[in-house]
Amino acid sequence: FNQQEFIKKIAKLELHLHIEGSLEPELMFRLAQRNNITLPYASVEALKEAYQFNNLQEFLDLYYQGAEVLQTEQDFFDLAWAYFETCHRDNVLHTEVFFDPQTHTERGIDIGTVINGLSRAKQQAHEQFGISCEYILCFLRHLSEDSAIATLEAAKPYLQHIIGAGLDSSEQGHPPEKFQQVFGMAKQLGLKRVAHAGEEGPAANVANAWQLLDVSRIDHGVRCLEDEALVKRLAAAKMPLTVCPFSNVKLKVVEHLREHPLPEMLEKGLAVTINSDDPAYFGGYLLDNLQACSETFAWSPQQIAQLCHNAVAASYASDQRKSELS
Ligand code: ADE
Ligand code: ZN
Repeated sequence: FNQQEFIKKIAKLELHLHIEGSLEPELMFRLAQRNNITLPYASVEALKEAYQFNNLQEFLDLYYQGAEVLQTEQDFFDLAWAYFETCHRDNVLHTEVFFDPQTHTERGIDIGTVINGLSRAKQQAHEQFGISCEYILCFLRHLSEDSAIATLEAAKPYLQHIIGAGLDSSEQGHPPEKFQQVFGMAKQLGLKRVAHAGEEGPAANVANAWQLLDVSRIDHGVRCLEDEALVKRLAAAKMPLTVCPFSNVKLKVVEHLREHPLPEMLEKGLAVTINSDDPAYFGGYLLDNLQACSETFAWSPQQIAQLCHNAVAASYASDQRKSELS
């Protein structure tokens, strides 16, 4: 029995993927050239060597810098299309993709340019590969709530392309309670809600994202383990946690994959899913994360299937699509 082949072939879903974090160095250089931008790196190799991070902020600084090559609708199409090609290669059949409009609108790019490019790629991925995709608009938590509200207003003409609202960027100093109002507005608009919480920030951020932002998934959530009572409530409610193992290693949330608390999280009955976060920066896509975890933690095929099943249950796919994916 070839476990790696089994993991490759099983139907997979991804629920935590930043499209700007799927920008591979090669494409970054191609788009820079196309848009007459000079990158502060001499080569793809030099750029890759810079991908060593001591914390979330060091990564975010490079991630936002990298995103500056994205300027036209075609750039956003090409970005998303490259990601869908990896999904097709790895048998990821459904994906829920974050995008950060403020990273682009702050540079003077219209939100329509972003969303139209992404949506066209999604449409083509559906037609050509049979991949289903939903987009989740994320607010940058290092910016003000007013800026988040303005972003939600600007997105109103495009709501048919967006299934939910999320919260990402620097968790330290920007707790969920800062965004209560805009998440209330997102709920009014019929959007699903998710938030990064308990990645670098404390367990209280997980509890507050749940209670105050009324989210139906927690992104990362690993530090919930610091609050036993919270863990029990999350498990009882089957609150999905979108865990990103390679990300946690690269951003030094944990020192080595073998020290990742995934086994403890599963042991405690948490509704864990496995995801890649920013695969171009963290050294691998969903398949790579699953294969490495399976080796490191000696997971059985049943455990892999359970994790994929957790992702189906946690997804915002229609009931019909969920039954196709099961
Ligand atoms: N934006 C992209 N990746 C992120 C992460 N892992 N945490 C917070 N914000 C992000
Ligand atoms: Zn993330």
